[in-house]
Amino acid sequence: MHLPRRITNIQPPVIPILGEWIRSNPGTISLGQGIVSYGPPPEVMQAVQAFGGTLADHRYGPVEGQPELLAILRDKVTRENGLSLQRRRVVVTAGGNMAFLNAVLAVTDPGDEVILPVPFYFNHEMALTMIGCRAVPVPTDQRYQLDLDAMRAAITPRTRAIVTVSPNNPTGAVYPEAALRAVNALCAEHDLVHITDEVYEYFTYGGVRHYSPGRDPASRAHTIALFSLSKAYGFASWRIGYMVVPEELFDAVNKVQDTNLICPPLVCQAAAAAALRVGRAYCAPRVAELDVVRREVHETLGGVGDLVEAPPTDGAFYVLLRVKTTMDAFTLTRRLIERHKVAVVPGSAFGVTDTCALRISFGALDRDTVAAGMTRLVEGLRVEVG
Ligand SMILES: Cc1ncc(COP(=O)(O)O)c(C=O)c1O
Repeated sequence: MHLPRRITNIQPPVIPILGEWIRSNPGTISLGQGIVSYGPPPEVMQAVQAFGGTLADHRYGPVEGQPELLAILRDKVTRENGLSLQRRRVVVTAGGNMAFLNAVLAVTDPGDEVILPVPFYFNHEMALTMIGCRAVPVPTDQRYQLDLDAMRAAITPRTRAIVTVSPNNPTGAVYPEAALRAVNALCAEHDLVHITDEVYEYFTYGGVRHYSPGRDPASRAHTIALFSLSKAYGFASWRIGYMVVPEELFDAVNKVQDTNLICPPLVCQAAAAAALRVGRAYCAPRVAELDVVRREVHETLGGVGDLVEAPPTDGAFYVLLRVKTTMDAFTLTRRLIERHKVAVVPGSAFGVTDTCALRISFGALDRDTVAAGMTRLVEGLRVEVG
């Protein structure tokens, strides 16, 4: 069967490959997938049980989402993110990934370029390739912070957008307000869209604060902000995210979403409304617990010596380690699983090709299991590359 380049040019999804290796090596501790260890608040299940009593519950809803959920989201983005909704619209999506796809389909033509700081979130690169755009990788610095000059230098007449992910997957970096403002201003200067992925907005540590670039009134017409309930509310399977778009792009996003989804599943929207009514307070103590795990992970890595370099994690629940070896990250990952029963994600999946980088995710497991996984990881690295 002939497969088109939109498929063959895309890297195979790394998480299922790791899943296969993990299944073949029972007892492996997975510091792989980027999920949280908890589920949603009980109010979610109450809302689900109450759902379905009317005929409308079983019919299509509005493309952009249910009015009740949209009202909650409008209040949330205004109050928490400081986004003015003057000439902006909120759209509920089936998760942050779909919000990204909606955004890039709404603003690009095939052959257009979108700038992604490296390391990038692999599904962003995959989505761009799939729709016939060029993902243009630009480097970040040693601490995985943005390099504005590199971004500026990468802009061509085909560039349509710059993507920032803060807090970042896979690095755990959080970009300061000034850096994000500078990217947003660069976009304005070159008539580009700034797509801001904020799905880890609640996950910041040690007094570091998340900044929503859409806060700046000057950002209104060229900023698309993406959010998700997957991480904050342990809500990944329900597939609910949302986006805040300039009024001028609303019809374009609606066209895309109507074609792909028609509307996000109504039961999931009811569940999302219930989670959002509980609000950020649900997530806050869990982030405080993760902070303890984060510090322990970095302490362990600090004891490894100069075999690895681990830039700080100020947000999300990741560390992107640089390992001093000439071995490629995929091979090392496989050995760590097969010989040491610990799984991480190879940095090559995130576009890191010049060093052997490994992503540790510490969000999904309890503190003791993470500690056990870290012991195996350190031991494995000493044996395989030490
Ligand atoms: C940066 C980033 N954006 C988006 C997503 C996808 O989130 P969702 O489950 O809402 O599609 C993830 C999930 O890992 C992510 O890390």
